Amino acid sequence: MIYTRISGTGSYLPDKVLTNQDLEKLVDTSDQWIRERTGISTRHVAAEDQTTVDLAEYASQRALEAAGRDAQDIDLIIVATTTPDRVFPSTACLLQKRLDRHGCAAFDVQAVCTGFVYALSVADKFIRTGSARCALVVGAETLTRLLDWNDRSTCVLFGDGAGAVVVEASEEPGILSTHLHADGAYENLLSVKGGISQGYDSLRDGNGYVTMKGNEVFKVAVNTLGRIVDETLEANNLEQSDIDWLIPHQANIRIIQATAKKLRMSMDHVVVTVGEHGNTSAASVPLALDVAVRDGRIQRGETLLMEAFGGGFTWGSILLKY
Ligand code: COA
Repeated sequence: MIYTRISGTGSYLPDKVLTNQDLEKLVDTSDQWIRERTGISTRHVAAEDQTTVDLAEYASQRALEAAGRDAQDIDLIIVATTTPDRVFPSTACLLQKRLDRHGCAAFDVQAVCTGFVYALSVADKFIRTGSARCALVVGAETLTRLLDWNDRSTCVLFGDGAGAVVVEASEEPGILSTHLHADGAYENLLSVKGGISQGYDSLRDGNGYVTMKGNEVFKVAVNTLGRIVDETLEANNLEQSDIDWLIPHQANIRIIQATAKKLRMSMDHVVVTVGEHGNTSAASVPLALDVAVRDGRIQRGETLLMEAFGGGFTWGSILLKY
């Protein structure tokens, strides 16, 4: 049996840090409100001349180094992003050029905040079926470029960053199961209304920015993530206590706490980066994974549950032996 195993992780955060106090100067908000409602204190923002592929490249180099691999060993590149550098080529192709790797398959996946979970699930299928042996899977975003800095209901929530993993075919257990879902009926609760196909004018008048009905998104997210935890445990015949680490999408500390409660898991076994990173969309799960691998919390052989929820709505989970 062939499994997909993570052989290296990497991440990158831009240097510029935006604090809640900085936001107090932009909109009618307070540090206290943001921390109490979201758990966020700071977030990173890409420099003016930095784009998504720059962030993806740094994270990828670090993941390759951690895996002891060279870019030439990679036979598949998948980038999850909602904020691509260009309409085309894909950010994955731009990253491939940066890595000086020519010829292997490279494409983007768009599932907003669930993007990395989708991308890693796709890579898992390629590896299990023998179509790839060594894949680079990246979640990278410059989501702050989609924010209206006058809208306090969204601009305090998001940040920029990138996370990456190298995954390889292995006889030892790695990814045990993946679970992907979507329901486009919720398209309007969290979206950017404009888009290329509607013409450039569709992006004017605020329609090129993130809009969200926050409290409605919150309720659906909590219920949906609770259900996917059950689905994942049942599919693997596992109990809550079999999970060593929860690596959730980092949107809001209250959503994370609700999922941990569902798992009857102490917050000591939940990787939480939302306080320092904000919501980095597709980058949030691989960023959190890399942080906990590098600081020594996550050890080889442990059982990890990753989950995410985002615009679409999309949601998904991955259970794996690290
Ligand atoms: N600072 C101060 N007040 C704010 C504010 C801000 N940044 N943003 C909104 N408010 C106000 C609202 O205007 C509202 O005021 P009102 O009662 O006078 O109308 C009040 O705070 C409560 O707003 P509400 O939206 O009900 O608050 P909430 O407790 O639901 O928290 C979110 C708002 C956005 C933090 C929360 O709903 C959330 O996290 N939702 C999920 C978002 C998410 O995860 N999105 C991404 C999914 S991938």
